[in-house]
Amino acid sequence: MRLADKVAIVTGAARGIGREIALALVREGAKVTISDLDMDPLNDVVNEIKAAGGEALPCRVDVTNSAEINKMVEATIETFGKIDILVNNAGGSARDRASDFNEAPEEVWKATLERNLHGTLGCTRAVINHMIEQKSGKIVNFASVNGISGQSGFVDYSAAKAGIIGFTKALAKEVNSCGINVNAIAPGVIETRVVEQIPKETITGIIESLNLNRLGQPEDIANAVLYLTSEEASYVQGHILRVCGGGFIS
Ligand SMILES: NC(=O)c1ccc[n+]([C@@H]2O[C@H](COP(=O)([O-])OP(=O)(O)OC[C@H]3O[C@@H](n4cnc5c(N)ncnc54)[C@H](O)[C@@H]3O)[C@@H](O)[C@H]2O)c1
Repeated sequence: MRLADKVAIVTGAARGIGREIALALVREGAKVTISDLDMDPLNDVVNEIKAAGGEALPCRVDVTNSAEINKMVEATIETFGKIDILVNNAGGSARDRASDFNEAPEEVWKATLERNLHGTLGCTRAVINHMIEQKSGKIVNFASVNGISGQSGFVDYSAAKAGIIGFTKALAKEVNSCGINVNAIAPGVIETRVVEQIPKETITGIIESLNLNRLGQPEDIANAVLYLTSEEASYVQGHILRVCGGGFIS
């Protein structure tokens, strides 16, 4: 097992990509703290992990709230003794569907920046000194191909994800000598509830452009997280790993 004796925190793990990441980390031997705003589906994930013989600690955490983040970090250290891995997966657009920025209400675009960019910085800030002290750690952030190329209809989301890319590269330089790897994944279109925000004709166009006859699956992303959190990736630093089935290459 690639992650035996490792302890991981995965944010936004109640469903979608985060859920799949948590299950994959546990299959590779990690103990996990999983957090989300929605406790019912999060507890279902905990039960799934326990049924498979794994260990999981559920925490109700809004990643925009420092007090809640700090409690999650303290509870993880109290329960599992350390933190080796942080997966900053929680995020997404605060809009129901694509819409132009000139119509965006301030509270909506600010919420998008908060949940993606501030959430990633907040959770990282809460674990980074622990990782520096133990001289090891793996941090995987969640960007998006939209943060690389920009996506009309999701301007605030594109800005937040571009910010996460800048954060990932800059922090990687700061902690390069500390035994900590900081990388990010930039997914293409992955089949979770998020896809419902995208018009059907756009999805059809994306699938046709990929020549693969399928969208990405949460497992495709979980496999990339397994690589970046394993020792196999110990020389991979400040990298933005595009997992997009060959689309969105710019
Ligand atoms: N699905 C895609 O096509 C796609 C593409 C590119 C990037 N991403 C990114 O991948 C990550 C996961 O996406 P997904 O498709 O699984 O989304 P999802 O909506 O299915 O799951 C996201 C989870 O994050 C949680 N969350 C949202 N805001 C939160 C907050 N403030 N505090 C704590 N938890 C919060 C939600 O409750 C939800 O359970 C996100 O960062 C998203 O931006 C997804």
